Amino acid sequence: MPVAVITGANCGVGLAIARRLLSSDCIPSFSVVLACRNTSKAAGARTLLLEEYPQATVDVVELDTSSVASVKRAAIDIRKRYQRIDMLFCNAGAMAIAGIDVGGIVRGLATQPVAFFESSQALRQARGQVTGDGLGLTFATNVFGHFLLIAQLADAMASDKSSFGNEARVVWTGSATASRQQFRRSDYQHVWGGAAYESSKFIVDQIAEPLDRRLRARGIRCVVAEPGNVCSNFLGSLTVPLLPLLVAAVFYLLRTVAGISRFTITPDCAAVACCHAALAPAVDPRIKYHSRATRLGTSYVEELPLRGCKSTGEFLLSRMDALASTLADQQIDQPTAI
Ligand SMILES: NC(=O)c1ccc[n+]([C@@H]2O[C@H](COP(=O)([O-])OP(=O)(O)OC[C@H]3O[C@@H](n4cnc5c(N)ncnc54)[C@H](OP(=O)(O)O)[C@@H]3O)[C@@H](O)[C@H]2O)c1
Repeated sequence: MPVAVITGANCGVGLAIARRLLSSDCIPSFSVVLACRNTSKAAGARTLLLEEYPQATVDVVELDTSSVASVKRAAIDIRKRYQRIDMLFCNAGAMAIAGIDVGGIVRGLATQPVAFFESSQALRQARGQVTGDGLGLTFATNVFGHFLLIAQLADAMASDKSSFGNEARVVWTGSATASRQQFRRSDYQHVWGGAAYESSKFIVDQIAEPLDRRLRARGIRCVVAEPGNVCSNFLGSLTVPLLPLLVAAVFYLLRTVAGISRFTITPDCAAVACCHAALAPAVDPRIKYHSRATRLGTSYVEELPLRGCKSTGEFLLSRMDALASTLADQQIDQPTAI
């Protein structure tokens, strides 16, 4: 039975990936692992999935990608439960939202109103946030925790063919907000800048191809998929009344009236590229797989070149290898069964 591990799968795009895999015709019996930091939310998601797909195998593993110890515990737990992993969706992601940027809203609406709604210009991001391991919070959550998880699960993914006939796949959930301008080698974890999210997603784009080169010999491919603009819990920390409704209304207008396909809006449409990247017979790590939707909401995948820079990718992998080996000796508690 093919096994897919999905991080951040209790809601939004991650939960939609799980749904799509379970409803997939080509693979009748999929085992889905919801790797989530909040196990009660994950248990709720599991119940929902089992109501829809009573025959499915859905498990929960506790994973906080911002904590090295948690990643290691989760990897031990996953390896104990499953002999083989066929797909790893590196989907969990967050932005450390510190508030609304009124200046950014005015500037964005006045200069590039459509691009504004595809960006995070309206938001102020927290600076100076580090994890207990001393890593930049957004970098750790969106990138490094997954990098470590891949390293810890690679043995369980390696082989010529996975249980469903393809090579094993690592699929990162990237973002169109990935920004070279926001990335600095001197502060690559973006602790001090105001755009840690955009920088972290830029790193995802840069490391995918070198990671693929590294993993390919072991029968694992590594690609980036991008969900488009989605109405999810992503802005959940902002308690502005009616904001989710307003955002959804603008997104629907931009898609149905202006025909802008990047506004996928529903998590189900947004998950199409991730699932395609995991299930397609062949993938190319130089391509970024984008979810798109027609005016009426039919989802499809657009393949565009991934703008990777070899020296940046190698710089980042070498930094993360060094971090991983420094943090590898850290003692951890045994995993708790869920
Ligand atoms: N929304 C968009 O328009 C958009 C656009 C481009 C890319 N993306 C990317 O799509 C992915 C999914 O986001 P979404 O839109 O589905 O947002 P979402 O509904 O907020 O889901 C994010 C998921 O990530 C989890 N997560 C956050 N920090 C975590 C951590 N430290 N450890 C483990 N899990 C963590 C969340 O868990 P909790 O429920 O516990 O918080 C949640 O399950 C993210 O990588 C995001 O960057 C989203």
